Amino acid sequence: MSVSTAVERKTSDANSAEIALTVNGRASHLDLDLRTSLLDALREHLHLTGTKKGCDHGQCGACTVLINGRRINSCLTLAVMHEGDDILTIEGLGSPSALHPLQAAFVDHDGFQCGYCTPGQICSAVGMLAEVKAGWPSHVTADVASPQVALTDGEIRERMSGNICRCAAYPNIVAAIREVAEGGRR
Ligand code: FES
Ligand code: FES
Repeated sequence: MSVSTAVERKTSDANSAEIALTVNGRASHLDLDLRTSLLDALREHLHLTGTKKGCDHGQCGACTVLINGRRINSCLTLAVMHEGDDILTIEGLGSPSALHPLQAAFVDHDGFQCGYCTPGQICSAVGMLAEVKAGWPSHVTADVASPQVALTDGEIRERMSGNICRCAAYPNIVAAIREVAEGGRR
């Protein structure tokens, strides 16, 4: 073994560890480089490719997943930071035979074209509706003191503004989210 190879191996070992992640209710133990993003851990190591990589630096929202019920860009966080967390991806939200209400609403309203942004849009919408239910105001909320947020189209657009759709399916995405928010699907 050359000196340089030995040094590389030592460095690599020092940067790796076994990480325990719970994704969609299933516990996994992964031997990961500590610098692995949660997005890469999901896609490359757990083969959960429903979560998409668009920009890989927090600009597009395609990688959105839910951590303990809150939405997060998985490209911006390290897998090692989420041991013990409850990680939910699009694969855990519903199944083809039992769609989550938001998945069904996106289908009904044609809330996608190419579909690349869609898993992130749906995970983000799940987190967003929970934020509304908890009374969190947004940048466009008229009365931030009110415990009940009126979910106008403007509110939905603002709250979903971190999720880019290059196919511009925005009107249909808003319609799908509105239907679920108004109780059309539960
Ligand atoms: S891939 Fe994470 S925000 Fe774009
Ligand atoms: S459906 Fe194509 S990027 Fe949104």
